[in-house]
Amino acid sequence: MTDEELMAVAEKKVDVAYAPYSGLRVAAALETAEGDVFTGVNVENGSYGLSCCAERSAMFSAVGAGRKRFNRIAIASSANAPLRPCGACLQVMWEFSPDMVVLMGGPEGALERRGVRDLLPEGFVFDRGGEE
Ligand code: THU
Repeated sequence: MTDEELMAVAEKKVDVAYAPYSGLRVAAALETAEGDVFTGVNVENGSYGLSCCAERSAMFSAVGAGRKRFNRIAIASSANAPLRPCGACLQVMWEFSPDMVVLMGGPEGALERRGVRDLLPEGFVFDRGGEE
């Protein structure tokens, strides 16, 4: 699957995001190391702090299906510019796949490609002495 094809999967999901408070609808398409694609959208709540970003929704959905290694994540939104993942989502990417690639979609097919290590150079790693 090309970067553009993965972004197209994300773009198709933007409309189902639940963002009545911010008005910013976001969707993510996550490609696992096995080649599966999981999608997620931002889900807001009237108690604002409970809201969850599209990227984490996609990653948590993949982990729930037994996938823990990711290749790429494409992020599409209703904004008129490529959206950077927030620090919390980058930290979750670090947990599973610090070498994964982030694709950020902009208007008219514009696509930015960056590494997680580039966007968050030194993520937190909890050393559990080799235990899963
Ligand atoms: N949001 C995402 O879903 N992903 C991002 O990368 C940045 C922000 C959501 C969270 C919230 O629902 C809305 O965008 C405004 O912050």
